[in-house]
Amino acid sequence: MAKIPVKNVIVEMDGDEMTRIMWKLTKDKLIFPFLDIKCEYYDLGVEYRDKTDDQVTKDAASAIKKHGVGVKCATITPDEKRVVEYKLKKAWGSPNGTIRSILDGTVFRKPIIVKNIKPFVRTWKKPIVVARHAYGDIYKSSEMVVPGEGKTELVFTPKSGDKKSVVIHDFTGAGVIMGIHNTEKSIRAFAKTAITYAIAEKLPLWFGTKDTISKTYHGYFKRLFQEEVDKRQEDLKKAGVEYKYFLIDDAVAQVVKSEGGFVWACKNYDGDVMSDMVATGFGSLGMMTSVLLSPDGHYEYEAAHGTVQRHYYEHLKGNPTSTNSVATIFAWTGAITKRGELDKTPAVTDFARKMEEAVIETIEGGTMTKDLMAMAEPKPAKHASTEEFIDAIAARLQQKIAKNKEL
Ligand SMILES: NC(=O)c1ccc[n+]([C@@H]2O[C@H](COP(=O)([O-])OP(=O)(O)OC[C@H]3O[C@@H](n4cnc5c(N)ncnc54)[C@H](O)[C@@H]3O)[C@@H](O)[C@H]2O)c1
Repeated sequence: MAKIPVKNVIVEMDGDEMTRIMWKLTKDKLIFPFLDIKCEYYDLGVEYRDKTDDQVTKDAASAIKKHGVGVKCATITPDEKRVVEYKLKKAWGSPNGTIRSILDGTVFRKPIIVKNIKPFVRTWKKPIVVARHAYGDIYKSSEMVVPGEGKTELVFTPKSGDKKSVVIHDFTGAGVIMGIHNTEKSIRAFAKTAITYAIAEKLPLWFGTKDTISKTYHGYFKRLFQEEVDKRQEDLKKAGVEYKYFLIDDAVAQVVKSEGGFVWACKNYDGDVMSDMVATGFGSLGMMTSVLLSPDGHYEYEAAHGTVQRHYYEHLKGNPTSTNSVATIFAWTGAITKRGELDKTPAVTDFARKMEEAVIETIEGGTMTKDLMAMAEPKPAKHASTEEFIDAIAARLQQKIAKNKEL
């Protein structure tokens, strides 16, 4: 079968554990047999990150800036346990955090909906797109354990002029503090990309913070977001897109009671937590797509879940696994679609669409991994293994492509 040529490079970032296994299966069975594709490969597996003192992560982010499109496998963010497990030099920072701080922008997470998987939240009928601000806050913080009695302060030292300070807390005993920041530029970029996305998709746009408590920090987000919305009033009106601001606790309550079908812009931490809640509410963490859209128009696609560590340990013991590869496959199809759009190669975007259809039809045809079984109606007699599921998609994709050739 002649392969479809992909004109320009996709930056490929390999990862860890079970997702690394699925990554290879996806490439070998679903991508490389069909596409003549040039991938610039970066190994973001934790061992190679450690070997390069994490330089590989920074190089991968720079490559995305150069080529415009990247696709990333899930990676371990090491903690002390992982440092021991993988004999690392230190607990390197989150690769996603590093990449996001270099690219900046907003992460859009959208659930993949299939007819025979019923959401846990009964009211949800349409996707809820979580637009997560991808810069700063606790992901670029400085923290300190306070050993005992003493005063802690926030201090601003301007290039010229007088210092400004506020007291954080007068400690009478031990405790802990954290300094977080964000920038006007990044918050405006977050608002702009979320607004642009909502207009393009013609979806209502929601945003929530806790500005009643954090009048300065959260209040700053609220004000800048509103200013960006005001600048795009005409476009929003034309697209029929309504902007709603909530207190974050009210937003959470409204989201759960809603039927979906909107973009939910979230501050960095809220987006981290709420996208897992939304993914699980719709069915599974394995059914959530994720793309980072930078203000400079660069795209990084990934699965929204982690490395599925527990399944990997079973895999290492030689036991069969049933890990859901849908989000990993959709990370690839997202990157391929975007590459095709930017390169103006419709055959490439068409291939990605066929692959997504093949995935959905495979599940709707009753072949699915264990995580989806509990919510499936009707329930299939048995679940597919990690490999069987990908093989079933490959077979369907082959059929689709062959059928297309006959027409
Ligand atoms: N984007 C990323 O790279 C990313 C995100 C989160 C966590 N992590 C890393 O992943 C590792 C494991 O973290 P975790 O356990 O908190 O998160 P996880 O997403 O790997 O797993 C959370 C839970 O969801 C289930 N799950 C997740 N994806 C699944 C899938 N595709 N199929 C079936 N079940 C699935 C897991 O079995 C587990 O019960 C950690 O080292 C963490 O640093 C990476």
